[in-house]
Amino acid sequence: MATILCAGGAGYIGTHTCIALLQAGHKVIVADDLSNSKKAALDRVQQITGQEIPFYQIDIKNENELSVIFAKHKIDAVIHWAGFKAVGESVEKPLMYYQNNLGCTISLLKVMAEFGAKCFVFSSSATVYDVHNAMPLKEEDVCACTNPYGWTKWMGEQILRDVGKVDAQMSVVLLRYFNPIGAHESGLIGEDPNGIPNNLMPYISQVAVGKREKLSIFGNDYDTPDGTCIRDYIHVTDLAQAHILAVEYLMNGGESNTFNLGNGVGFTVKEVIETARKATGLEIKAQTAPRRAGDPARLIASSEKAKKVLGWKPEHADLEEIISSAWKWHSTHPTGFADGRRDASC
Ligand code: WQD
Repeated sequence: MATILCAGGAGYIGTHTCIALLQAGHKVIVADDLSNSKKAALDRVQQITGQEIPFYQIDIKNENELSVIFAKHKIDAVIHWAGFKAVGESVEKPLMYYQNNLGCTISLLKVMAEFGAKCFVFSSSATVYDVHNAMPLKEEDVCACTNPYGWTKWMGEQILRDVGKVDAQMSVVLLRYFNPIGAHESGLIGEDPNGIPNNLMPYISQVAVGKREKLSIFGNDYDTPDGTCIRDYIHVTDLAQAHILAVEYLMNGGESNTFNLGNGVGFTVKEVIETARKATGLEIKAQTAPRRAGDPARLIASSEKAKKVLGWKPEHADLEEIISSAWKWHSTHPTGFADGRRDASC
């Protein structure tokens, strides 16, 4: 059993991982500034697991505030999700992204060194890969980002690689997510982005619940079977499980490493829309719009390394099943966690 600080743990992937960590017998502490998440989500995690989570609403760039947590709890490992993640916004506000995303990473590393915490799992992204690589992508493939968000992920990785070189005790796992979608089987937590969703699945869900009129399909002239982009969608609970395995791998002396997390299968935007129509039984209006800057035609993972080294076994490969889990959340919580009510059904 380990005590794990989940930095940015109130978010979509963080909350799903907190459930898995608690159910695996670990102790969880969450620090989050709630800039793109809601405390109600953590309350829901506590309802689902029946376990308390010490929560600190802080700016993770603030080393003094972070030190208070490390002084109070003996932290064995850190999982780091704290950062801004909107690709388009990062292009408009690069300094905000570099200062926040790299600042959070550096602050965590400095305080970890002060208190002797030695295991670090980093939420990285497929967006670090050069778009000219052949698919499926492997961890050793060339990296070259097309936007500041992606560069903050790659630079975060580089900072961790460099720290790992000088501190023999510090061990790091870099997890490169492909496209996380879906929701916990209970339907009590799920993706709930602030404002207009940047990502495909939450936007489709908001059209389905009637919050948005129709989806814009960003480009239909890519070199793909139906002209729309292909992505590798991974169920968020499979992603959460990979974090448990990564923490335990490091706690058991595993050496620093990098792992892709995807299903190894690609679906086009139009296939996702059609599957969502089938899963929801709803029309889900969509129109073709111009391409979105920076979108590669294809992103598909090879996750063979995570399966071999971590023993990772994703359980959800059927796209309709994955989308149905997202719909169970969105259809029963059309305003997300907005009202923060305690869900009577659990
Ligand atoms: C998927 C496809 C869009 C919205 C990014 C980050 C990655 C991770 C997930 C954080 C693309 C198309 C989308 C819409 C559309 N971020 N699309 N209409 O860009 O592959 O990955 O989000 O965890 O790190 O890079 O995901 O869902 O934004 O887009 O047509 O309204 O859907 O063009 O082809 P993406 P996405």
